[in-house]
Amino acid sequence: MAYIQSKTILKHARDNKYAHGAFNVNLLIQAKAIIEACEENRCAAIIQVAEPGLAFIGGRADFLNGTIEDKKRGAKRIANYVKKLAKEATIPVSLHLDHGRSYETCKICIEAGFNSVMIDGSALEYEDNLKLTKKVVNYAHKHGVSVEGELGVLAGVEDHVFSATSTYTNPLLALDYVKKTGVDLLAISYGTKHGAVKGDNVKLRKEIVISTMELFNYENVDCVLVSHGSSLVPEYIVNEINELGGNVKGKGVPISELNEVIPSGIAKINMDTDIRLATTRNLLEFYEIYHPEYKENSKIYPLMVEKRDSFEYRYYLKEYIDELVTEPKKYSDEVKAILPYLVLATKEIVLTANVLFKSFGDKTKIKE
Ligand code: G3H
Ligand code: 13P
Ligand code: ZN
Repeated sequence: MAYIQSKTILKHARDNKYAHGAFNVNLLIQAKAIIEACEENRCAAIIQVAEPGLAFIGGRADFLNGTIEDKKRGAKRIANYVKKLAKEATIPVSLHLDHGRSYETCKICIEAGFNSVMIDGSALEYEDNLKLTKKVVNYAHKHGVSVEGELGVLAGVEDHVFSATSTYTNPLLALDYVKKTGVDLLAISYGTKHGAVKGDNVKLRKEIVISTMELFNYENVDCVLVSHGSSLVPEYIVNEINELGGNVKGKGVPISELNEVIPSGIAKINMDTDIRLATTRNLLEFYEIYHPEYKENSKIYPLMVEKRDSFEYRYYLKEYIDELVTEPKKYSDEVKAILPYLVLATKEIVLTANVLFKSFGDKTKIKE
C-alpha cells in the first residue's frame, strides 16, 4: 500500500483522539515485524531509527562512534528495505529519523528515502534551535517529508519544577516555535524520560499538553504533539529478564497517564526501551529454556552473560551485525535460530501499543 508521511497518519490520530506508537529499530527484521504486527491490527505503521541506529545498520558495531558514511549507508539500507516492504504491505507505512542531530543527517535520510525526520535542537539556545529547525523544514517540505522538532529538555523527573528555570516545554514558546519553523510534529518535555528508569511514580504534566494544544487551536496552528521517553517498561518483562539471570531495573510511564494525555493531543508515542527489553528477554529465554544447546558455541550468549544488567541488544548481537542489517542469501545457524524470537519480541510490543493507544483499525480511514 502506501508509503506516506508521518504527519498524514498522525493528524488523523490527533483529530480522532488516539495515538500511534513510533517504534525504534536497529535490525532490518524489526522493521518487518512492525509492519506485520500493524497489518494484523489493520493500522498504519511508524518505524523510526535514531542516529546510533543508522550507524549500526550501516554496519558499525561500535554504533556510538559512527561516521557520516556509516549513517549514510544505514539510512539507504533501511529506507530501501522499508520502501520495498511498504509497497507490498496492506497498511500505510512511514519511516522517520528519530533525534536527528544535524541538518546533514536529516538531509542524508531524506535523500535515502525517509519520509519523516526529526531535528532535535532542544539542547541549543532557543534562537539556534529555531534557525536549525527552519533550515531542515525548508529542505524537507520541498521533498514532501514531515518534520518533528523538539522544545524543552527531557531529563530527570524529580528535579523538574514548572518555573522560569524549568526544562519542561513552555506552551507560549511552543506556539512561537511552531509558527516560526513550520514543523509538523513537536516533541515536548512534560514529565517523560528516556530509558528504563523513569521514576517510581511518573506523573505527566497534562496541563502542558492541554495549553499547548489550546494555543495552537486559537491561532490555527496545525501541529501534532509527540511524547518521547514513553515506554511502559512492563513489569512482567523486567521480572522475566531477572528470573532468567538478568539484572535489570526499570519502571515506565503508566498507561493511565498516557491515556489522559492522548485525547488532549499527544498523537505520537515513541517506544524504544520496551522493544529492547522484550528482545533481551526473548534471547535469554532462547538460551536458557528453549535451546540451551546453542549456548556452548554461541557468539551472543557470552556477551549477554558479560553484561547482565544491560538490555542493549546491539552489543550482544554485534558479532552478527552484517547478517542482521542486510538481507543475506543465507543466515548462520545461530542467527537463523534466533530470528523468530527477535520478531516475536518486536511484535509483542507493537501489538500491545496498537491496542493501548487505540490505533488499531485506522488503515482504511487515513487518506493521503
Ligand atoms: O531516544 C532515543 C532512542 O531511545 C534511540 O536510542 O540513540 O541508542 O539508538 P539510541
Ligand atoms: P523510551 O526510552 O521510553 O523507549 O523512549 C524512546 C524515545 O523517545 C525514542 O525517541
Ligand atoms: Zn526520544
